[in-house]
Amino acid sequence: MTEALHVRPASLDDAGALQRLHGRAFPSFFLTTLGPRFLELFYDRLIRDGEIVLVIELGGAMAGFAAGTARPHGFFTRLLRRDAWRFASASVPALVRHPRIAPRLWRATRRPAEERERPEGFATLLSIAVDPGRARHGLGARLLEAFIAEARARGAAGLDLTTDCDENDAVNAFYRRNGFSLRREFTTPEGRRMNEYEMRIDDARPSPPPKPAPGLIAKRGIDVVAASAGLATLLPLLVLVGAAVRLESPGPALFRQERVGLRGSRFRLLKFRTMCARSPGPQVTAAGDPRITRLGRFLRHYKLDELPQLINVLAGEMSLVGPRPEVPRYVQHYPERWRRALTVRPGLTDFAALEFLDEEAILSRSQDPERAYVEQVLPRKLELYERYLAEQSLTTDLRLIAETLRRIWR
Ligand SMILES: CC(C)(COP(=O)(O)OP(=O)(O)OC[C@H]1O[C@@H](n2cnc3c(N)ncnc32)[C@H](O)[C@@H]1OP(=O)(O)O)[C@@H](O)C(=O)NCCC(=O)NCCS
Repeated sequence: MTEALHVRPASLDDAGALQRLHGRAFPSFFLTTLGPRFLELFYDRLIRDGEIVLVIELGGAMAGFAAGTARPHGFFTRLLRRDAWRFASASVPALVRHPRIAPRLWRATRRPAEERERPEGFATLLSIAVDPGRARHGLGARLLEAFIAEARARGAAGLDLTTDCDENDAVNAFYRRNGFSLRREFTTPEGRRMNEYEMRIDDARPSPPPKPAPGLIAKRGIDVVAASAGLATLLPLLVLVGAAVRLESPGPALFRQERVGLRGSRFRLLKFRTMCARSPGPQVTAAGDPRITRLGRFLRHYKLDELPQLINVLAGEMSLVGPRPEVPRYVQHYPERWRRALTVRPGLTDFAALEFLDEEAILSRSQDPERAYVEQVLPRKLELYERYLAEQSLTTDLRLIAETLRRIWR
């Protein structure tokens, strides 16, 4: 195989392709019988929650994936309850077609019933699959290796997984060959014999996972109150700006872009559109970028394009104050530092947002804005995110909000 091989974290846009590949690789498995809508929702939820979902690409196309969690206790319950109504409605067609799956689905929503005794600190590999046409070329081993590295980076001491015992020799051999040993055998209530494998992965003395910053709950309360009040007060302005954006150039009023949030979760950040729709180019913008519309320039100057992010704040994806949420490709640089920075929700403003208020002007002075961003701007921003973590308090937040407003409107 000579095509370029690349393993990367999955993005929200991958949920559909993950569902299709899952369906092909596991045609008769429980999750597959729940139907494509359920499966797509399942992968979308995993990615949104910042669980471990890795994709292997061959020549730019998805050829396999590995999905799992570093927080296996109560995993399915947590996941299903988060989006209970959407999961319930997505499972209706499957329940009508195969009513016999109902007890199993019900069991998955009950917390301790199926939770088995497992050693502390083990991550779980939930599914791994390679496009059947690409099997036996080492892609599965590459995915496992990347999954182990990610689980270790999240502080896992080991990794476990469950697979069918019968008529599944190749897969069992695959896991043994890749370093797993059998922990136990058990039979499911449906009478399927299963093998549970494990592997210790803490040989390299993992760093403990960063502790969540204190005061997250109080901060969330303030965010909800302030974002609701802000949205209610600014509603007429938001409607006006939205209408103006739509009138000035063809395309939607809002621009959505995937960003990385709290503990690696993913969400779509909202802004008023300030560029002509569908203009290709780098993900950073320098001042004078020809893609920016006239109205866009005005909105950007007064940061009015960022106002829809009050909705992201209300949804719990962002906070008023915190590190600016980045696009996934920039989080791949300096992953350890990002892991620390994202122990808090990303925010509308912070020390870095203030220092780089005129980021576009800085980048426009560079021959290669993308490179300048990664090599100069990003390390400095990460330094300032670390300063925010160290100085985080209600007073700091209020000071940062006041300073941001003063600097924008002076
Ligand atoms: C299990 C699975 C992920 C393995 O993926 P894969 O890409 O085929 O895995 P690899 O290529 O790394 O290894 C598979 C075998 O191919 C062999 N192999 C690897 N590179 C090879 C090559 N270039 N040429 C020939 N064989 C090769 C490996 O030695 C290995 O042999 P083994 O069966 O004795 O362990 C894949 O078969 C799959 O998707 N199966 C269906 C889904 C599934 O059941 N997943 C597990 C759920 S618990």
